[in-house]
Amino acid sequence: MDFSVTSDNQDSMSDTIEVEGDLDSSFDIPNGGSILIISNDQSYLTHGIHKFPAKFFPELPRYLIRKYSEEGDYVLDPMCGSGTTLLEAMLNNRKGIGLDIDPIARLISKVKTTPIASKSLKSASDMLNEKIQEFVNSKTYQPIIPEFNYRDNWFRPFVLREIAIIRDSIKFVHTLSPKSIKIRDFFRVVLSSIIRDVSNADPHCTRTVLRKKIVKKIELGDTISRFIQTLSRQRIAMNEFTSIARTLDVGHVLLPKGHAIQTSLDSDSIHLAVTSPPYINAVDYPRTHQLEMYWLGLLGDGPLSHVKRKYIGTETVYKAEYENLRSSGYDTLDPILARIYTKDPRRSFIVYKFFEDMKQQLSEMMRVLKPGGRYCVTIGNNMIRGVEVRSDEILSDIATSSVGFKLEQTFFSKLIRHFIRIPRPERMLGEWVLVLRKPN
Ligand SMILES: C[S@@+](CC[C@H](N)C(=O)[O-])C[C@H]1O[C@@H](n2cnc3c(N)ncnc32)[C@H](O)[C@@H]1O
Repeated sequence: MDFSVTSDNQDSMSDTIEVEGDLDSSFDIPNGGSILIISNDQSYLTHGIHKFPAKFFPELPRYLIRKYSEEGDYVLDPMCGSGTTLLEAMLNNRKGIGLDIDPIARLISKVKTTPIASKSLKSASDMLNEKIQEFVNSKTYQPIIPEFNYRDNWFRPFVLREIAIIRDSIKFVHTLSPKSIKIRDFFRVVLSSIIRDVSNADPHCTRTVLRKKIVKKIELGDTISRFIQTLSRQRIAMNEFTSIARTLDVGHVLLPKGHAIQTSLDSDSIHLAVTSPPYINAVDYPRTHQLEMYWLGLLGDGPLSHVKRKYIGTETVYKAEYENLRSSGYDTLDPILARIYTKDPRRSFIVYKFFEDMKQQLSEMMRVLKPGGRYCVTIGNNMIRGVEVRSDEILSDIATSSVGFKLEQTFFSKLIRHFIRIPRPERMLGEWVLVLRKPN
């Protein structure tokens, strides 16, 4: 482990421990201290298969897993996103369990942690490339282009055609060996990983938005060649992962039904839970992934707002819900709700609802963890309508005063290289890691 201590005037914490790469699990981060992990592993094995907002860098869950669990233990991420914790749990010979309400997140997590025999993957990829070329060269082939809102604003006509050709080719290869669902899903995730780049959406914004000023340079054939290059890169990553996965004794991953507040897990069954919940006010996950969901057929028939309501941190709230100022009963939260309410009643309710949902989520973790088990939650602070929301303090208050956890440790993990772009001054400099312990 290579680390140094630097002085830091940017915030109230005076010393930051800087670590390049892995953080040894025997190392105790000082309580209340600050750490900057310079990640080397964001694309290690299958970690880099798909972008995801507020994705962990693997070194953080790896450290927590090694520090707070043993080989063979159950490690849960109840809001697993793209599955960083799960892959790390598996690679460290733990049994990973992941839940997420977002279908894209579940698909990525599954593919990221499912080994595929390299021979089968090679022959399926060769077949896929051939089929794509055949459809591209055909003068008569009419690919199936799905209908969705503002489709022709999001994509240029030739891009629509090329994505549809790739999608049809994946379907075709799958019909030849319908049992190999894992290969089909791997192809789908690779396709999903390029959709945002070939769309007209602003590449720098987590939300899927069009901006008049941004005219991306996407030419005829670019979508196909980008897919083929990405496939070949990700195949190498998958082969490396598969050969390591073969050597693992107990490491594997399950993605059961359920969500973070209502899991189907047995009481007292989990040794360690590690997660990063959505940020309040920062990422609208269904909207972020809407283009990918349209193409992968992952959106149900109902409107997007129905899906959105179920997310922790949702911004889809009804007027009747914020007609009056809400009171949470927590001294750490109520003055903040009141201050935001004077400026923006809706935002005040969004913050209130986030912590209400998190209270239920913490209670569910209290139920499923074994006595003595830990829940490591990373949470960023926000400025909402000019009011600072110290989510770490509020969450610690809820976890200890209402749910029954003991706050064992906290530290601040600084962020560099993050996919999230949030307008200044609401930008996050890092996040707090709370280590909560269920009493014995
Ligand atoms: C910050 S992201 C997690 C990123 C993850 N740590 C990674 O490395 O990719 C938060 C996740 O919480 C999920 N989420 C929101 N509400 C949820 C709920 N009720 N149950 C399960 N997951 C939920 C979102 O879909 C999103 O994937």
